[in-house]
Amino acid sequence: MPPSTTSAPAVRPASFRFRCIACGDLSDRAAQNFRCAHCGDLLEIVYPDWKEVSLDPARLKSIWGERRLSQSPIDLSGVWRFRELLPSLDNSDQVITLREGNTPLYELPQCARITGVPRLFAKHQGLNPTGSFKDAGMTVAATFARLAGFRWVACASTGNTSASMAAYAARGGMRSLVLVPEGKISWSKLSQALDYGAVTCQLRTDFDGCLRLLQELVLRAPVYQLNSINPFRLEGQKTLALELLEQLDWQPPDHIIVPGGNLGNSSAIGKALLEMRELGLIPRLPKLSVIQAEGANALVRTLREAGGKRLVNVQAETRATAIRIGNPASWKKAVHVLEATGGACEQVSEIEIAQAKAEIGAEGIGSEPASAVTLAGLKKLLKQGFVKPEESVVLVLTGNLLKDPDFTMEFHRGDLFKDGVDEKASAALRPLRHPPIILDATLDAVIRALEQAEKEQAEKEQAAKP
Ligand code: F0G
Repeated sequence: MPPSTTSAPAVRPASFRFRCIACGDLSDRAAQNFRCAHCGDLLEIVYPDWKEVSLDPARLKSIWGERRLSQSPIDLSGVWRFRELLPSLDNSDQVITLREGNTPLYELPQCARITGVPRLFAKHQGLNPTGSFKDAGMTVAATFARLAGFRWVACASTGNTSASMAAYAARGGMRSLVLVPEGKISWSKLSQALDYGAVTCQLRTDFDGCLRLLQELVLRAPVYQLNSINPFRLEGQKTLALELLEQLDWQPPDHIIVPGGNLGNSSAIGKALLEMRELGLIPRLPKLSVIQAEGANALVRTLREAGGKRLVNVQAETRATAIRIGNPASWKKAVHVLEATGGACEQVSEIEIAQAKAEIGAEGIGSEPASAVTLAGLKKLLKQGFVKPEESVVLVLTGNLLKDPDFTMEFHRGDLFKDGVDEKASAALRPLRHPPIILDATLDAVIRALEQAEKEQAEKEQAAKP
């Protein structure tokens, strides 16, 4: 292997502190449950001396660009490449990385036609090493867990966090403990945690119950919690926005649309946007909007029924199991970034999610159901006039198609909606279904299947004509 090279650290790293999002208390250390010692609210990481180290935006952009040519592990990470805006390390060997980040920004020409928004893009975080956006946060939080000397890390999860945590713990030589709701996460995600060596507990409760238990556990046992309550996670997840803006040559899109579950990711993206504007990296803020499943709509209700002042929690139910969360931990952070960027919050139905997922899939871009709420949400925001067709829109796809093959199979076989769907919805879904065909192994049978497919395609095209 060639010796690793890294571009010179041209900017002195900034120190960081923890700040309570409610009472503003500043501290150098965080308690094991990552809650404020005074008022019990969540903490965020701040960089009080950013002004002193004079982060010149043009210089930062050029350093980050230069690092793309480096072969050093820390530069090959699409997260640590932006390390001037992350908690600093003493040396680059401390990093636990699987070369996360570096995810593509795709154009979506077919979805653009469907929605009537020509400048429509997808930032596909499902192409991270363990198949979800969680890796961007996990590389940072797992690194700091090991630096703090922990042997055990733990999380409550709807599946993706546990897969990611287990992988990074394994890479970093730590043990991991996973708490997941029994029967409510996909086998794909569960199998990842098993393979990466996690102690995996399927608890007879929902995600919210798992998280409650974990918060108690970390006060009793020396385990480091890696849920997005942990502010290091959100610092890593910020880089999604940095990388996105770099891909857009630092020209902000009009809208970024993200799924909302426990609301860590929207908070992280919003924090990044606000910091980027403060540092002069971007001239204006995109509007950041959050979309939830109708059956797990705590943020929607919090904003509509309580003006964003208190959490309205719900008993969550949705087939988009990644976001089956009724009591989102980071709701206050999410309300703040929605207000600061002028974004919207909407909910979409199970049928709308399934349809959007198949429409994204028909572009050759697979995503898991939770990711597809973004396209379904965009359609609603367009109808409401909140998004205008001439504006540019980036959908954040958070997880890979392979994360939930059961959902996809049931959709294509027509079994997803057990109680059936109404005629209008059914007509919209039918052309998107491509069920597998079981045939005798004869040439004739395959040729007949081809001819049948041709005929159906011609009918679809005829039906689609205005
Ligand atoms: N999309 C996917 C694929 C997810 O796995 C999650 C959350 C979200 C969206 C929502 O992100 O919670 O930051 O608002 N999954 C967590 C987990 C809860 O345990 O894997 P959020």
